[in-house]
Amino acid sequence: MSHTKIDIFDTTLRDGEQVPGCKLNVEEKVIIAQQLEKLGVNIIEAGFPISSPGDFKAVKEISKTIKTASVCGLSRSIQKDIDCAIDALKQAARPRLHTGIGVSDTHIKYKFKTTHEKIIERAVAAVKYAKNKIEDIEFYAEDAGRAKNEFLAKVIEAAIKAGATVVNIPDTTGYCLPSEYQEKIKYLVDNVRGIENVKIATHCHNDLGLATANSIAGIIGGAQQIECTINGTGERAGNTALEEVVMIIKKRFPNNFYTDINTKLLANTSELVSNSMGVYVQSNKAIVGENAFGHSSGIHQDGVIKHRENYEIIDPREVGYDNSKIILTARSGRAAVAYKAKALGYELTKKSLDLTYQSFINEADKYKEVSDSRLLSILKTIPSYSIV
Ligand code: KIV
Ligand code: ZN
Repeated sequence: MSHTKIDIFDTTLRDGEQVPGCKLNVEEKVIIAQQLEKLGVNIIEAGFPISSPGDFKAVKEISKTIKTASVCGLSRSIQKDIDCAIDALKQAARPRLHTGIGVSDTHIKYKFKTTHEKIIERAVAAVKYAKNKIEDIEFYAEDAGRAKNEFLAKVIEAAIKAGATVVNIPDTTGYCLPSEYQEKIKYLVDNVRGIENVKIATHCHNDLGLATANSIAGIIGGAQQIECTINGTGERAGNTALEEVVMIIKKRFPNNFYTDINTKLLANTSELVSNSMGVYVQSNKAIVGENAFGHSSGIHQDGVIKHRENYEIIDPREVGYDNSKIILTARSGRAAVAYKAKALGYELTKKSLDLTYQSFINEADKYKEVSDSRLLSILKTIPSYSIV
């Protein structure tokens, strides 16, 4: 059985930053890039240099700072974009250019108002032009998710022949089902000459909530790079969440795939990105949401207290949290109250637990959650003879 390394390409600072209302300054971007490097990301997409002087500066500064990861800059298939991106990347230890063009019928007809043949010509011209200036070129076939596989294969083959080292197959509009996306990647593996000499990348958007599932389907189909963002941040419904694909690979495919990510840094990285962007992570978000390791109903709390794995498939310490959380609510039972009381220094007898629980449940009906300090106030009213 082969054990394939999956490169993690993080685009939090480019695609992820395209969230309405979110603007990171250059200093914030450099700090996030340094954290991504520590996390073990293989390629950091630092920005779209021609889009603004700020983005140019961010790519330039990140290029100077980052030593082990590749630093990538985006461009369209236009010479002045490519020149600008390469200029911004010039001090990078491992520079990568990300260039490409739309390949779906919709993009060709309504965005470029051109023909399929002309799209191939433009793709080839861009990659050839860039190849004289930079070695590592990732070609993106925008809206590949909705493109016909036969045409997509022709574009990808031409881009590889022109010098692309990585080919990115974006599901730009989040349209594909996992089975379709997997077949698309497999189709390219089986039908594109030269594909064995390059890496295939997934780049999935979350419009139907399938970005993570599609990225995993993509690596099963033969891709070796996943493009993603911290917290799944990004335009519209966002991009594939880095923490989700990394933990799926770790938990469900340990014999097939691996990544270089230090999963213990996921929680901190999520918090850094959320705070810098001013974008809250939803509380039920997988892996990094506030409630991802929180238990509030009596049956689950009792189960988790007896044995964590009854209701958790990930040890919270594996992703950088101290512990699971027992949250006291009106759904909590005696086991959770006794557990919390013990954590606060009160070992309760059966009698004292009964007394505490009666007061607790009245409070719990009034409030969404019974905090530690409220439980402490209750515990202070319990006669001391009934406490061990
Ligand atoms: O979603 C997309 O197609 C993109 C490309 C520019 C890579 O972000
Ligand atoms: Zn995208």
